[in-house]
Amino acid sequence: MDEESQRIGAWRRLLADQLESLRRAGVEQMAVRQTAAPPAACPRDGNGTAAPPRANEPRANEPRANEPRANEPRANEPRANEPCSERGRERGAADDVGTAVVAALPDAGAGNVHRGETADGMGLGQSLDRLRREVESCARCPELVRNRTRTVFGVGTPRTRLCLLGEAPGADEDRIGEPFVGRAGELLNKMIAACTLRREDLYILNVLKCRPPDNRTPEPNEVENCRPYLERQLDILRPEFICCLGAVAAQSLLRTTTPVGKLRGVVHAWKEAKVIVTYHPAYLLRSPNQKRAAWDDLQLLMAQMGISVPHSQPG
Ligand code: URA
Repeated sequence: MDEESQRIGAWRRLLADQLESLRRAGVEQMAVRQTAAPPAACPRDGNGTAAPPRANEPRANEPRANEPRANEPRANEPRANEPCSERGRERGAADDVGTAVVAALPDAGAGNVHRGETADGMGLGQSLDRLRREVESCARCPELVRNRTRTVFGVGTPRTRLCLLGEAPGADEDRIGEPFVGRAGELLNKMIAACTLRREDLYILNVLKCRPPDNRTPEPNEVENCRPYLERQLDILRPEFICCLGAVAAQSLLRTTTPVGKLRGVVHAWKEAKVIVTYHPAYLLRSPNQKRAAWDDLQLLMAQMGISVPHSQPG
């Protein structure tokens, strides 16, 4: 390698380190100068082409719907007249030329930066398909295998910021093969819409991939049997946020026996993802008086995601 390449390499490593420490400090966006040419390197998808931004993520220089425009602070971001040194972020002249997502910058370190492929170099869709086929042939839980019509793997976009994690398929899901398509799914759709999100931009999955007979609560050994699939699925998706719907989802993911009521209102962590816990939509159908509390949870989620919070509550 010649001297020039070594110097460029050193600069890139330094930049990547700085970006990573900003990311760890909670900075999700930063101003950049617009240039006519694209950045020297972009995250690549499996085909070696520049990877598009993740769903729910603003394109460089383009604010999302209901997101502050360039120059406006995002939720959790210091306002213009706030000292920024505490946040490890410097505002400068470049602020008025647009925004770019740190996660979209090259070699920004590990974290939840998606390069559109898994460690083995496969595209995300391919990796998920391979895992889906494994799940389809799984026979670890004889009672579930005997009773299932089909496995219910998950649905949504692989390049998502947010995963919604439920408990297990019910009768409708077992028939159709997609999570949350029954009555609980209808309420979940309203909850998603109330957050100004779109179901197709998220990824929805369950702790169990098979329906427990008569919709009984999953047995601990069934949760353990299915856990490697769930973990691998999340490892492929690498969401920034996971919203656990109900006790089984929250307690299984976080490996705790703490009740949902006590897990709510706090941002937990699973690997690099932030985890928010709320009530299961099926529980909310039975206990509508808890919808207000669930709405508080969704507002916490939106604030964490930098989505400005609408006032209306889902019905
Ligand atoms: N309840 C769940 O937890 N998951 C589904 O997919 C449907 C209902």
